[in-house]
Formats: sequence, structure tokens, C-alpha cells
Amino acid sequence: MRLLILNGVNLNMTGKREPGVYGGETLEEINAQIAAFCKERGVEAEFYQSNYEGDICTKLHTAEADGVILNAGAFTHYSYAIRDAIAAIRIPVVEVHISNVHKREEFRHKSVISDVCKGVICGFGKYSYILAVESFIL
Ligand code: DQA
Repeated sequence: MRLLILNGVNLNMTGKREPGVYGGETLEEINAQIAAFCKERGVEAEFYQSNYEGDICTKLHTAEADGVILNAGAFTHYSYAIRDAIAAIRIPVVEVHISNVHKREEFRHKSVISDVCKGVICGFGKYSYILAVESFIL
């Protein structure tokens, strides 16, 4: 089982921005924990982050994985390009968010990608990613 853990815009600032919302650990620290969890479960993990919408689309188009775990950041709420890229591939994509987007500002309640994703996990901090890994190995 190969999984691509894909993070979009501003996720590189995790640990530095709004720690009350996103926690104090950096994306590198979180990724190291996801990598360790994947290794224990015999899952091969690849990590990629970009602040550019087109990069996220290209990474989806060229993904060589059995599943994608995608935190698209704010792109979630308006990127029809990422939505179309998810719809264009056969690989299942699980949408994740560190925060509970439904408890936050109204613009975050809408995701334009949820209905082309296999499922959605949000609100569990870094464990949202871990739960998404679990969802692929159930
Ligand atoms: C986020 C939630 C989004 O609304 C926000 O724009 C992010 C991070 C999350 O992980 O909670 O950048 O995707």
C-alpha cells in the first residue's frame, strides 16, 4: 500500500501560524510521525506540500499511489481546479483538515472537493492524517 500525503497552501506554516488552531508542531514534525505510523503498518508514504494550486493538480495527475490524503488548506473552499483534478484520477482521495472547519468561519463550512473524495476527516489535529491512513488499511 502506497499513500501520498499531500498538503496545500499555507500548510508549510503549521507550527508557526495560529498554534491555538493548528497546534505547535511543524509540518515536518507531523510528517515524521505519520511516516513512523505508516512504517509500523507496512505502508509506503510519500509527502508533498505546495502553495501553488497547479502544483497540487499536477501532483494528483501524476500520483503513483493507492490512495491520497489531501489537506488542500484554503483551496478546499474554492478550488474547482483541484476538484476537477481529483475527479480526473482513479486513485481514492481522503480530504483531511487539522481543525474542525465546521466550528469556524462560515466560508470554511463549504468544501468544493468533499463530494469527489472518498471521505472527510477533520478536527482531530495531526491525528486527522493518522485516521486517514487508518481508513486506507481498514
Ligand atoms: C485547514 C482548514 C482550512 O480552512 C484552512 O484554510 C487551512 C487549514 C485545516 O487543516 O484545518 O489552511 O485545511
